[in-house]
Amino acid sequence: MAIAARQSAQAANIAYVPPDHEPVLAPELVEILDPQPGETFVDCTFGAGGHARLIAERLGPEGELIAIDRDPTSEERWREFSADAPSRTRFLRADFAAALEGLRGENVRPDAIVFDLGMSSMQVDAWERGFSYAYDAPLDMRMDPDQGLSAAEVVNEWPQERIAAVLRDYGEERRAGSIAREIVKRRPVQTTSELVAAIKGAIPPSERFGRGHPAKRSFQAIRIAVNGELDALDRALPSAWQLLPVGGRLGAISFHSLEDRRVKRFLVDLARGCICPPEIPVCVCGHEPEADLLTRKALAPSPEEIERNPRSSSAHLRAARKLLEQSPRRA
Ligand SMILES: C[S@@+](CC[C@H](N)C(=O)[O-])C[C@H]1O[C@@H](n2cnc3c(N)ncnc32)[C@H](O)[C@@H]1O
Repeated sequence: MAIAARQSAQAANIAYVPPDHEPVLAPELVEILDPQPGETFVDCTFGAGGHARLIAERLGPEGELIAIDRDPTSEERWREFSADAPSRTRFLRADFAAALEGLRGENVRPDAIVFDLGMSSMQVDAWERGFSYAYDAPLDMRMDPDQGLSAAEVVNEWPQERIAAVLRDYGEERRAGSIAREIVKRRPVQTTSELVAAIKGAIPPSERFGRGHPAKRSFQAIRIAVNGELDALDRALPSAWQLLPVGGRLGAISFHSLEDRRVKRFLVDLARGCICPPEIPVCVCGHEPEADLLTRKALAPSPEEIERNPRSSSAHLRAARKLLEQSPRRA
């Protein structure tokens, strides 16, 4: 049934969204960021608009939901959402780091900013976009189809050492060196199935089981490289924080440790009081925390949510409230 619906959506050239699309950690995100009537929220990763709708219902007709996504299929979803949106809304199709800078130029001071990082179910399920090792498709993986760099270029044109570094740094793949060598040996690698075969060919049979699908980490790594995901996050977090007024909230859901570590480090650093060097016994800096952590530990989905939606299993939500305008020491 789902396959038939997906195929007819693809035939009609629209993104397929399962009728039961459930945004990850949604009640937790809404409770922590606590949208109030009349407030302005920025959803940096609109996707299929699952979180956006729940938030907009709380913002009401006096509030505004500013939606950002770099994928044109998300813009289509937003058009549908805007037809009966519970709040005012507008859409910015751009990289979120650039869009946040644009909002700064407009002097927008949103009450909260949301990130739900990584790729959407819509992107994974659009088999022809090559995000998934489960479907055979041309190597692509671009969230923004207008950008030049695709997975085909990474796999077929980047030097072996650079591919190995991508697999190691973005996929934490132990066999990065052998996989990169195998990919280069098999060039041209034109489809996801050929890439999966190259990865499997580089991993000894005894290691192919037990850590999930053998291509999972390499596909994640190549996707992160193609879309510059970690660089975008590193640029966006400080921009988002700067945009918030005192009392503003920032919430981020991440799906792997490379993202979560960045979000955690960023927020924990802002929440630190004293920033004197450790060798100074008494605080002389008088530095005040700029953030109040709304999640001491990252929130994870309940076993029931993971059961309903296995893709949520690696999600972590972290959030903080702004206490002070940016300290001059950190500016
Ligand atoms: C996990 S999905 C969001 C799902 C959404 N919260 C929902 O409820 O449907 C992530 C979305 O963020 C977008 N995205 C990822 N990185 C981005 C970036 N740097 N700039 C803009 N959009 C980005 C992707 O295109 C994707 O649509």
